[in-house]
Formats: sequence, structure tokens, C-alpha cells
Amino acid sequence: MTSTPVGIHDLSFATTHYALDHGVLAERLGVDPDKFYLGIGQEMMSVAAADEDIVTIAAAAAKPILDRHGVDNIRTVLLATESGVDQSKAAGLYLHPLIGLPNTARVVELKQACYGGTAGLQFAAGLIARDPSQRVLVIAADIAKYELDTPGEPTQGAAAVAMLVSANPAILELEPHSGIYSADIMDFWRPNYRTAAMVDGKTSVNAYQKATQEAWTDYRRNGGRDLTEFAAFCYHQPFTKMAFKAHRHLLESQGHTAEPAEIDAALHNTTIYNRTVGNSYTASLYLGLASLLDHTGDLTGQALAFISYGSGSVAEFFSGTVQPGYREHLRTEENRDAIATRVALDYDRYRVLHETESPSDGMYHAIPEETGRPFRLAAISGHKRIYESR
Ligand code: COA
Repeated sequence: MTSTPVGIHDLSFATTHYALDHGVLAERLGVDPDKFYLGIGQEMMSVAAADEDIVTIAAAAAKPILDRHGVDNIRTVLLATESGVDQSKAAGLYLHPLIGLPNTARVVELKQACYGGTAGLQFAAGLIARDPSQRVLVIAADIAKYELDTPGEPTQGAAAVAMLVSANPAILELEPHSGIYSADIMDFWRPNYRTAAMVDGKTSVNAYQKATQEAWTDYRRNGGRDLTEFAAFCYHQPFTKMAFKAHRHLLESQGHTAEPAEIDAALHNTTIYNRTVGNSYTASLYLGLASLLDHTGDLTGQALAFISYGSGSVAEFFSGTVQPGYREHLRTEENRDAIATRVALDYDRYRVLHETESPSDGMYHAIPEETGRPFRLAAISGHKRIYESR
């Protein structure tokens, strides 16, 4: 039986107004900048202005998709995040007035740490397999925040990736095989009463590697491709060095020699954006895909591997094939612009932004205009968040 191809028809990326240079952070923390540049593989990280949150960056990522394709037959909007703004209302609903989402689409928020975007993509594929005339808007949006002066601090970041998932996709067809590994682990979590995540970094690195290997084993059990068939491997990147560590671990676990040059060839182009954006949790894997497509020669017909990991933990290994003509649908210039137009953040303002808490008294609080991006949080009033287009 042949089934309709389903996958990513369009992909758009947005990030915050500010970026903090890891050189600035290293100087203030009194550490060798090479610990960040080489040790964890990060150069900069995106930082939200006071009037930005996951809704504003999600709207900025999704709007170009609606501008290009319209809203017809978008019957579902899945927004994945682990830095949501409300415990009850789905963040995607705030996008209605900002970008003109249709009232005839169901809107749901998904959470499982950094894995949530992949859950959205797979759920979307299932809905479209049931009715190929429908399209699903999947948005992965996160602002990664760890406590100041902790090992997690240099692995912050922020971004949103919006994907239009449809039948007969223009960019990437998802393959049906998938491998999963879920286990209860306390490697990274954020209790409801905290704004910054808790992380046990070493446990997390080990759990990520084990989960990658187990998800790969399950992928193969389910009829997936051989390791040698992939042109590139897109990993979730809490920091870019993690992808290299996990790939080496995977290759060695399968009896392959892991030559650094071979690992670099398979991964380097997936890490270019993440190296300067930082961790974007749910969006990170898909930012890796954008980076690969924007920086690599013709990949038509090539198979790509995807390794999604969300602490806590769920991992999934899946694959896709790059579609003929995909390059005409990329947003390379816009993606580079989103990164290049960030404003360099000075350290003092960074600390103030980091330490500022949302008002919780129910009074009217106007938020001064700070971001240069298309959408902003204008006020919080009566415990309601009020957004506006700029
Ligand atoms: N030059 C080059 N490399 C250097 C260096 C220098 N001057 N100083 C240190 N390094 C290397 C270390 O050797 C180490 O490399 P290795 O991992 O290959 O051994 C790396 O830099 C990190 O150093 P380490 O001392 O382990 O750093 P740390 O204790 O500050 O923790 C993380 C690093 C990544 C564990 C920490 O930032 C973290 O927990 N981040 C959050 C991770 C996360 O979000 N996990 C959840 C989602 S998957």
C-alpha cells in the first residue's frame, strides 16, 4: 500500500532582540573563553528583551508561513514549549489576533522538555495521514533560562521554529520508521514555582547519550535505515558540543570507528545557527535542520537522521528525505538576518533582565518598548498578558 508523503512543507525561524557574547560572559565569570567556544561549543546566546516571551517569538516565526501559504485547511496548531506563559491557556491562542490564525483550527500546547516539538511533528503527521487535505502548523518556541553563576548559565538561549506540515511536502518527507526511548530521569526539570530550570548537567549528558543509543536500537528494530545511509545527523543541541558527543557515542556503540573528521562532516552544518543562538529547547533540533539546509550544497534525495531528546526523558530517532526543489522554499536570507540583526547585550542589562520577575499583583503594568522584533508584550493587567504588533 502506498501512502501519501507527509512532512515539512515550510520552515521559518525567529529569535529574540538581544544576544550576549560568550566572551563577555567568560570575562565576567573569570573563566577561559575557550571553555565556552571549544569546551561546550557556544559563541553567543539569544536573550529576550523585557517585552519578549515565547508568544512574541512564536508569532514572529509563524507569520511568514501564513503570509506565504495562507490559512486554508490549517485545522490544527500545535505549539510546543517548556517555557510557557500560562498553566492553563495554550500559548498558541495568543497568536490569533497577532497573526490571524483561523478560528477553525484546534490549538493545543505540548510539553515534554525539549522533545515537545518532535511530538508536535509526529502528531501532525498522524492527522495528515488521516486526512491529507489538512495542514498543521507546528511551532516550537522556548527561552532557556538557568540561574546566574551556575554551570547551566552559558547554555541559555532562545528561538522559535514554525513548520507547516502537509501532504506532498516541499522540503522534507518524514519516513514512517521511528525509534523511541522513554525513562523517568531527573536530569533537568522546572518546578511550577521556578522561572529558571534545574539541571544536573553530568547526569543529563549521560542520559542523552544512553537515550540516543536506545532510540537508535528501537529505530532499527522498527525497520529503519542503516547508519551509513544518512547524509547528515540533526541532533537536539542544548550546547553544540553535545551533538558531537552523542554522535561519537552512537557510532562507537555500533562498532564504527568515530573519526573526528567524519563526525564533523556529518554534524558541523547542523550546528552553525545553534552555536550563536544557544539552547532553544524544543526549537533546537529544527534550528539544526534549518542550519543544515541553509549551509549545505544540494541535498536532494538524501536521507537525514533526527535525534530528539527531552530531559526527563523521551528520545526519538527518526528520519526523512530531502525533496526535489527544496532550495526554492528555504528562508536562508531571513534566517541569517534574524541572527545578524540581534543587538549586542551588555552584561549589566543582561543581569537586570535575568533577575526581573513578572508582576503578580494584578495591577496594570505597562512594559516599555524594547524589542525591535515584529511583536511585543505591551502590558500585564489584571493578570492578563496584552500583546501588540509593532
Ligand atoms: N578550553 C577548552 N575546553 C575546556 C576548557 C578550556 N579552557 N575548560 C573546560 N573545557 C571543556 C571541558 O574539558 C569539558 O569538555 P568535555 O565535556 O568534552 O570533557 C567542557 O569544556 C565543559 O567543561 P565542564 O567542566 O564539564 O563544564 P561545567 O561543569 O561548567 O558544565 C555543562 C558543562 C554543559 C554540563 C553545563 O553547562 C550544563 O549543565 N548545561 C545544561 C545542559 C542541559 O541543558 N541539559 C539538559 C538538556 S539536554
